[in-house]
Amino acid sequence: MGILDSPSTWLIAALVLPLSIVVYNLYFHPLSRVPGPIYAAISPLWLYLESYLGTEASSIDALHARYGPVVRVAPDEVDISDGAALAPIYTDKGGFFKAQCYKNFDIDGHPTIFSELNPAERIQRAKAVVNMFSTSSIRAGNDIIKECVDRMVDRMESEARGGKVVNLLNLTRSLALDAVSAYLFGKGYNGIQEEKLSAGEFVDTFVAVGRFFYLPNWVFTLVEEASARMDRNKAHVEKSMQTVDEFVGALVDEASEEDPTYQGRMLKAGISNHETKAQCKDLMFAGTDSTGMNLATICWYLAKWPDV
Ligand code: HEM
Ligand SMILES: *[C@@H]1O[C@H](CO)[C@@H](O)[C@H](O)[C@H]1NC(C)=O
Repeated sequence: MGILDSPSTWLIAALVLPLSIVVYNLYFHPLSRVPGPIYAAISPLWLYLESYLGTEASSIDALHARYGPVVRVAPDEVDISDGAALAPIYTDKGGFFKAQCYKNFDIDGHPTIFSELNPAERIQRAKAVVNMFSTSSIRAGNDIIKECVDRMVDRMESEARGGKVVNLLNLTRSLALDAVSAYLFGKGYNGIQEEKLSAGEFVDTFVAVGRFFYLPNWVFTLVEEASARMDRNKAHVEKSMQTVDEFVGALVDEASEEDPTYQGRMLKAGISNHETKAQCKDLMFAGTDSTGMNLATICWYLAKWPDV
């Protein structure tokens, strides 16, 4: 019997291999001296679970309270809780490469400004549009944004007067999408006028798979496809995706490179028509849930503490 046929060889290999990975991660890995809990140094599985449960932000925050501003949260991942890290990570010299998992948020086969890993690639896109995000540009566009706010307040008041349930989060999400689209795209989505936000399921689908964000890309893709297939709301989701595709489709097809809009600037920078549509969809996702959730939360706290 050869050595590879012996069951004990395989048994030993099955024990030694994981054990040597654990020993390597704990004692020989370049990050082995970064403080953090042992379970995080050994494997990223705990982070996958926390992210699935939606508790990773508070759990990592608790680790910072215990281990300080720099914590090893996975074998090859460090979390920094210090404002001084922002510039080196995000802006100085174009910023760091992003982690592989950002690929999970590519849209229609295109890396977006959010998901592109390589800062040299990202900067080409970002440079074309970054002026639109400066305080002075946004101030100059104040009327466009205020018009959206006025429409939201009108709807809020009329629903409240009519004795209807006012769902503040739905309204602030619609406001966020309307403001982002009116200001950046030069054409409002007009979600505030809709009975129910037609882009809602599009946004929710991205938010929902966010809990699988840290998974390796091939696992993420499998999970994403499975969750789309099993979704009981599938027809509504597809309709919503289609509505958003039509909105950005018209936006980009009708754009000229001379337009000072987000899509016009992208086209002028030589970005393809197809990719520009994906970049617009990226903002419709990135700007809606984040801003809507923050505004609704601010209102909730203000309502709870009216003296403030
Ligand atoms: C209160 C509202 C918002 C919050 C809390 C928020 C939060 C964040 C955070 C934490 C990141 C960094 C993510 C990471 O590195 O993993 C990010 C990136 C990004 N956000 Fe937002 N965001 C908000 C509003 C918006 C809006 C309104 C837009 C667009 C209209 C937007 C577009 C983006 C883009 C494109 C990136 C990637 C930037 C880059 O990598 O260069 N966000 N956001
Ligand atoms: C808020 O939005 C959700 C999801 O689109 C919807 O199911 C719900 O009916 C809306 N609520 C109100 C009061 O409009």
